[in-house]
Amino acid sequence: MSAAYHAFRQHGDHISKFYITTPIYYVNSVPHIGTAYTTIMSDILARWHRLAGDDVFFLTGTDEHGEKVAKAASANGESPKEFTDRISVKFIDVWKKLNISYDRFIRTTEAEHTKTVDRFVQLLSDSGDIYKGEYAGWYCVPDETFLTELQLVNGRCPECGREVKWVKEEAYFFRLSKYKDRLLEYYKSHKDFLSPEFRSKEISNRVEGGLKDLDITRISVDWAIGFQPDPKHYIYVWIDALTNYLTGIDWPDGEKFKEFWPADVHVVGKEINWFHSVIWPAMLMSAKIELPRKVFAHGWLTVAGEKMGKSKGNAIDPVQLADKYSADALRYFCAREISFGRDGDFSEAKLVERINNELVADLGNFLNRVVTMAEKFDGKIEGEPELEGKLDLDGIRKSMDELDTLSALDTIWKFLGELNKYVNDKAVWKLEGKELSNALYNLLEGARIISILISPFMPDTAARMSEQIGVKLGTLKDCKFGEFNGKVSKKGFLFKKVDTKA
Ligand code: MSP
Repeated sequence: MSAAYHAFRQHGDHISKFYITTPIYYVNSVPHIGTAYTTIMSDILARWHRLAGDDVFFLTGTDEHGEKVAKAASANGESPKEFTDRISVKFIDVWKKLNISYDRFIRTTEAEHTKTVDRFVQLLSDSGDIYKGEYAGWYCVPDETFLTELQLVNGRCPECGREVKWVKEEAYFFRLSKYKDRLLEYYKSHKDFLSPEFRSKEISNRVEGGLKDLDITRISVDWAIGFQPDPKHYIYVWIDALTNYLTGIDWPDGEKFKEFWPADVHVVGKEINWFHSVIWPAMLMSAKIELPRKVFAHGWLTVAGEKMGKSKGNAIDPVQLADKYSADALRYFCAREISFGRDGDFSEAKLVERINNELVADLGNFLNRVVTMAEKFDGKIEGEPELEGKLDLDGIRKSMDELDTLSALDTIWKFLGELNKYVNDKAVWKLEGKELSNALYNLLEGARIISILISPFMPDTAARMSEQIGVKLGTLKDCKFGEFNGKVSKKGFLFKKVDTKA
């Protein structure tokens, strides 16, 4: 984000807009914690910006066209329409369970989206960037899947292991090669565009190596949006998928488009970074539409070192985990365990460790102790702020602006550590009268501020915390020590300790 943006934010009341997107997920598989990871992290960022007072638009949805979806539907004895209607609801249900606060859920089978794709293709064509050529590549006949050389496993289909056929087919192409220099120039002059930083080199090096034009239509795949200029052709996956970011905010004439474009960040997994960092910007250049401000490619969630996914058979169900440990614990784990941008290994044992050490011992016990003492105290809770200097709010803001949730949580936990230390150093349970009032004032104000700061990560816990403190959950503006005027009421522990011996 620009220096001007930071300056505005630091000086108070300026409202910025913040448009954040997740990839749209293929409906041939139901959500697992890999897809939940991207969505949770994006939700945390969206909620953080709302907390900061920004006008936020958060888009997610499902990618519903293509041969794989059509095949999955027929394997289930359903039409593609029935199938996609059913599976997209599963995504909506899981996101609800995980407390995902999206503003719009887009489906690429919506009529509105077909209009976007038609218009967008027309713009590329107006720029002279679409031409008819011949596609040649590998094709798995029984799976009806096109494959690149790299996807083959020992020269065979990676899905079914059968032989593949070399096919040639008339196709339309997008002149990606034309945009090589402009892309490189853009990367150079927009240092924040490709992120994290270590990805930026990777992408520029590959682009420097040269760009091949991209085939954008197929004749043989018909569960797809029609290619208007030549009706026997259909749009082949990526133009359809990427333009969802425009449909989602009613491009070209909608109010939302005027307010929210360009996107502030497209959050994507590293395997689709190329499409977002190279192909999408080139297409936007061709269509003469402003480029997004940032593409952030995160790493993979792995299980025992292997990428988690449906095809690997190691997918973990986020709903089961949320039922067992709470959605908040899972959200916290995603943001605290893995450095956003890097790969990270998921294990239930690590999740449990964090729950027991950080959520039960550090946070839950702290609140419980303070609320217990405050409830017993008979009198007005007031005092002098002694702990304000222990809170590094600017540091937290900076980490979140850098999408570094891990550091932000570390800094929040440092403050929590100071609060816990204060309880012990002062032996607050032994204090009385004015001294006790002063200590409780500091601890409750600290707890109130913590409840605000953790709310993007653990919205439900934050609400339960502020309920016990007896205050309305505030926003970032309220993260300073003031008068305490809550009515404390104990309502049990925030988290239950997980028995690891069972
Ligand atoms: N439909 C395309 C994206 C089009 S966006 C215009 C697609 N869909 S997908 O269902 O395969 O989802 C891919 C995304 O899911 C990844 O980019 C990533 O965000 C997330 N993940 C899927 N498995 C994952 C892990 N094991 N770990 C982390 N993220 C994972 O590609």
